[in-house]
Amino acid sequence: MLGPPARAGPIERSTFGAVTAQAIMTAKPLSDARILLIVGGGVAAYKSLELIRRLRERGAIVRVVMTEAARQFIAPLSAAALSGHAVRSDLFSLIEEAEMGHIELSREADLVVVAPATADLLAKMAHGLANDLASATLLATDKRVLVAPAMNVRMWLHPATRRNVAVLGGDGVLFVGPDEGEMACGEFGPGRMAEPPAIVAAIERALGEPTAIPLPPGLGARPEGALAGLRVVVTSGPTYEPIDPVRFLGNRSSGLQGRAIAQAARAAGARVTLISGPVALADPAGVEVVHVETARQMHAAALAALPADVFVAAAAVADWRVGAVGAQKLKRGAAGAPVLSLVENPDILADIATRRAGRPALVVGFAAETERVVENARDKLERKGCDLIVANSVAESEGTFGGLDNQVAIVSATGVEPWPRMSKQEVARGLIEVIARMMKGRT
Ligand code: CTP
Repeated sequence: MLGPPARAGPIERSTFGAVTAQAIMTAKPLSDARILLIVGGGVAAYKSLELIRRLRERGAIVRVVMTEAARQFIAPLSAAALSGHAVRSDLFSLIEEAEMGHIELSREADLVVVAPATADLLAKMAHGLANDLASATLLATDKRVLVAPAMNVRMWLHPATRRNVAVLGGDGVLFVGPDEGEMACGEFGPGRMAEPPAIVAAIERALGEPTAIPLPPGLGARPEGALAGLRVVVTSGPTYEPIDPVRFLGNRSSGLQGRAIAQAARAAGARVTLISGPVALADPAGVEVVHVETARQMHAAALAALPADVFVAAAAVADWRVGAVGAQKLKRGAAGAPVLSLVENPDILADIATRRAGRPALVVGFAAETERVVENARDKLERKGCDLIVANSVAESEGTFGGLDNQVAIVSATGVEPWPRMSKQEVARGLIEVIARMMKGRT
């Protein structure tokens, strides 16, 4: 372990939340910040020892990785004595890797700092090379990287270095320096490593922002939960079917229930795609969201999201669209009110539930009914070819559309299970439990 898993705040608080006098006196600007310092091989490496000292003074926990070249400039023992931890250099050292692997080393830091960052290290970073501990750690990290370049002025101004710096800037790498001045080689110009106080200030600025770089949803640590490893696609919200460029046919669906199902599936470890019609909700975290407007767009997005293990059709899809959408805004005129002729939209749920090839193992539909809720749901189960129907009443008196609660009955080939009224989140969690149970029997 590099230190405590979560960074403590810079000031300790007493049990009652008040800042204690003791804490104010001992508060350090970088208390418990975990810095992984990668030292490259350049004359400026001696300044990295000063940097370690200043970081430690400010309360930071510093682990050091040195490149082979860096060891020619400073002794690892000095860096170990100043940081208080053994210094790592060797990617292939069984003992060192067993103690803390290079992946762990880069993940347990809050920030990775490369000082001095030589032209060679910058080039490796820009190209994703990973043939030694320093470069492999830089490629494996999930945290922001701050570099303090140091090299001869001609190397710094060389088009290859300019390209690499531009690439790294685009990748989100942070830079401090280089400064301009007299160089060890006798030349003058930009290339001197920034002084340790400036690097410390840049570290403090970098730590003021979130430093973790998330992976796309569903990747990274192996998910745990009842749906771990499964792909779930959820349609949600209304569809808007255009009449002309400014008007549309829509419905009152808020998208809350579908969003809650996507979140519950995600919490159960699934990789989730939420295909959402127009809603006034923020996208849920950790879920891939595809925004659509019309039923045909939703249909295309649903097909594109296959293959999936579970498909949940929670959207209130418009059954019809306007056949001839006006290219211009329809105007009031002598001809009187326009007559809209409607054509049927594709039935997304039925299409996916009846696919011969690539049908998800479990297809769940909703039945939004205003009367004879369970009977209509049973009928829908069969007509649409799905495995489960969540039947709910959307009669105006129920307040389901746009409301926070829902009262549903789960209808399957084996029977009907009425659930009491509960929040849409609770319905979602309950439904995911049912889905997980059914999937167990199928996979
Ligand atoms: N559904 C769909 N594509 C459509 C219409 C509905 O995927 N074009 C899905 C809904 O997402 C829901 C289920 O089918 O899961 C039932 O929707 P509902 O509006 O209740 O039923 P309809 O198919 O419209 O049938 P009816 O209007 O006869 O009740």
